[in-house]
Amino acid sequence: MSDPVEWDEGLIRRYDKPGPRYTSYPTLAQYQDGILPGDLFAALHESGRKGRPLSLYVHIPFCANICYYCSCTKVITKDRSRAQPYLQALYREIDLISPHLGGMQQVERLHLGGGTPTFLGHDDLRGLMGRLRERFNLHEDDTADHSIEIDPREADWSTLGLLRELGFNRVSFGVQDLDVEVQRAVNRLQSLEQTQAVMDAARALAYRSVNIDLIYGLPRQTVESFARTVETIIELKPDRLTLYNYAHLPDLFLPQRRIDMAELPSTDARLQICGNSVARLQQAGYRYIGMGQFALPDDSLSNAQETGELSRSFQGYVAGVECDLIGLGVSAISQVGDLYCRNSSDLKQYQQSLEEGRLALRQGLKCSADDRLRRVVISQLMCHFRLRYADIEQRFNIDFATYFTDCLGTLRQMHENGLIRLSISGIEVLPAGRPLVARICMVFDAYQYATDSTCYAQIV
Ligand SMILES: C[S@@+](CC[C@H](N)C(=O)[O-])C[C@H]1O[C@@H](n2cnc3c(N)ncnc32)[C@H](O)[C@@H]1O
Ligand code: SF4
Repeated sequence: MSDPVEWDEGLIRRYDKPGPRYTSYPTLAQYQDGILPGDLFAALHESGRKGRPLSLYVHIPFCANICYYCSCTKVITKDRSRAQPYLQALYREIDLISPHLGGMQQVERLHLGGGTPTFLGHDDLRGLMGRLRERFNLHEDDTADHSIEIDPREADWSTLGLLRELGFNRVSFGVQDLDVEVQRAVNRLQSLEQTQAVMDAARALAYRSVNIDLIYGLPRQTVESFARTVETIIELKPDRLTLYNYAHLPDLFLPQRRIDMAELPSTDARLQICGNSVARLQQAGYRYIGMGQFALPDDSLSNAQETGELSRSFQGYVAGVECDLIGLGVSAISQVGDLYCRNSSDLKQYQQSLEEGRLALRQGLKCSADDRLRRVVISQLMCHFRLRYADIEQRFNIDFATYFTDCLGTLRQMHENGLIRLSISGIEVLPAGRPLVARICMVFDAYQYATDSTCYAQIV
């Protein structure tokens, strides 16, 4: 699946419209109130009974400074002591959840995200990892994926050294844009030297993979300025690169109101920035994995796509088999079997619930049989750009064409327009359709998003 993406601007303009990124199906927009701790405990028992592999996600919400564009769940504070009550709540959550699992369930993946996980001091990072190792069955060798999101302004050699010692072997650095004018407009001044220093540290400390996040569509970005950023990043040679499309939703994320709309690049410029970046990254040897994710051919994401072992989680693409996911911390999402549930995104509520000895579950969803089937179809297309009808028919005991008869008209149109190839045995997403893979998946989505303000356009 290493064919390069084809950037057909006409097709992209025609098909690019707001829609989900499919980090899960059904998406967050479908979650409802009324999920109870008992629902999660029952799902955890079932997971334990089946001995399913686990993935842990831990959310650390604090950041010392605000980046105006940011849509992550975060709390801006310079008061480092706020980490203490938060960690106490997190430990209570771990203690409430872990007894419901099977003791032998292996944790295959661990991800620390935020916010800024390195807002925590060294002792607290040690304490957190100690508690996770006590309560869950983490690999003791370096075989599992233990990853962390790092703001290069909030980490140095000693922090990266400590994290490596604690078992982290993958790291993702937030860069967004190297241009000073853009950095000023979004209140994130970060020099190339700061980024270079943490990259050097990660290499010297033998982290297995380094990812860099960039965002296109930020204020004051031009086609030329972003091309310079991409060029410099290519020189740094990260193993992976994530190119996000800036989601400007100031009604939902208030600090985005501090961004001057007049300074945002036009639609034409955004398309050109994105198209040029895709072309340049591929030329420099990166593979397009999907949804703005690129990886070098020897990175595990590329290998997993080749061998059919790529999956998708709330953190994006991951190499390896699907695991039951346990989300810990404010706003964290768990996916255990057919159950999705999300913690409160309100820090006070989250901490208070746990102080009172209750999980802070807020919303969730139990997948129906139809959700399960569509989830597999969407995941196949998102991860592997192809789908064999026979696989789905055998697994779910259906006739594909009959089940999805309503989708056939749109799929045929996509076939005629060169996005996909429909054959008697399956669907293949063609190079020109790959930047639009989420739009192709939308055809199989049973829910309607037309009025959902949380959706935004995401090319690549
Ligand atoms: C959860 S953030 C954590 C990164 C880390 N705190 C840092 O700033 O370096 C992960 C990534 O989400 C992306 N991101 C945040 N807000 C975004 C938005 N409104 N639109 C697109 N991407 C966004 C950024 O690229 C960011 O690096
Ligand atoms: S981008 Fe990172 S550092 Fe900036 S506000 Fe968001 S989470 Fe915090």
